[in-house]
Amino acid sequence: MAKFEILLTAAIGGADMPVVITVLNSYSGWALCAEGFMLNNNLMTIVGALIGSSGAILSYIMCKAMNRSLPNVILGGYGTSSTGGGKPQEIVGTHTEVSVEGTVEMIKNAKNIIITPGYGLCVAKAQYPIAEMVDILKKAGKKVRFGIHPVAGRMPGQLNVLLAEAGVSYDDVLEMEEINDDFPETDLVLVIGANDTVNSAAEDDPNSIIAGMPVLRVWKADQVVVMKRSLGVGYAAVDNPIFYKPNTAMLLGDAKKTCDALLGKIKEEIVN
Ligand code: TAP
Repeated sequence: MAKFEILLTAAIGGADMPVVITVLNSYSGWALCAEGFMLNNNLMTIVGALIGSSGAILSYIMCKAMNRSLPNVILGGYGTSSTGGGKPQEIVGTHTEVSVEGTVEMIKNAKNIIITPGYGLCVAKAQYPIAEMVDILKKAGKKVRFGIHPVAGRMPGQLNVLLAEAGVSYDDVLEMEEINDDFPETDLVLVIGANDTVNSAAEDDPNSIIAGMPVLRVWKADQVVVMKRSLGVGYAAVDNPIFYKPNTAMLLGDAKKTCDALLGKIKEEIVN
C-alpha cells in the first residue's frame, strides 16, 4: 500500500502540493459528514460538509487559476496535457538590463506603480524592504499597489500573508481580476520574483504549455522592471517573452539584496 501511495504522489510537482492538500482536506470533510449521518450527529454532519466544500472550492479556484484540470494536477503536471499541439513560439530579441540607480530613476519618474510579487519574493524574504519602500513612495504622493495572482508563490494566499505580515495595507493589495485592466494606464510595473504568473505566452502562444492560464498583463504598462536572478524559467519551465520586450528592463540579482539596495537609494533620494 505504501508503495502505491508513493507512486501516486511521486509525479506531483512541489508547487502542485497545495492542490493535493486541499483535495485530501475535502475528502476528510466528506468522510466526517458521512460519519455524522451514520451517528445521527448534526454538528458532525455540518462541520464535515463545511470542510468538504471549502476544500473542494479552494482546489477548484487553484486549478482554474492555472487553467488545468484536477486530474492534470494530481496525475501529471505542467506540460502533460496537450494545448495547441504544435511547437511553442520561438522567443527572439535581446534583453535589456538596468541598474539599481536606473530603477530608482524610473520609480522617481513614475506616478502610478504596480508591484507584482511571486515565488522569488517569498524565498528571498524581500517583503520587508519592499513594504518600507512602498510606504515612502506613498508618502511622496505616488499611487502604489500590489497585484496578486491567485497561484503566485507556492501556497494559496502566500503573498497576501507575507505582505500583511510586513505591514502592507490590505487596501493596497489587489487580486488579479481587480487590477488586470489597469496595466495600460500604469507608468511602471515592478515584477519581483514572479515568472509564470506574468508570462505573456499564456495569452499570445496557443502552443505554450501554459496557454490559456490567466496571467497578470504587466507587459501592457509603459515600463516593466523584472527583478530575478537570471533569465531562467519558473515552476512551469516555460520561457517568458516579456524579458525580451522593448519596455522591459531586467534588474538581475537576489530579490532581497536588490530590494534592500532600492530602499537604501530611495531613502537617500526621496526622504533626505
Ligand atoms: P515562478 O513562475 O515559479 O517563478 C519564480 C521565479 O522566482 C523564478 O523564475 C526564479 O528565477 C525567481 N527567484 C527564485 N529565487 C529568487 C530569489 N532569491 N530572488 C529573486 N528571484 C528569485 O513563480 P510565480 O510567478 O509566483 O508562479 C507560481 C507557480 O507555481 C505557477 O506556475 C503556479 O501555477 C504554480 N503553482 C502555485 C500554486 C499556489 S497555490 N501558489 C499551486 C500550484 C501551482 P531565477 O531563478 O532566475 O531567480
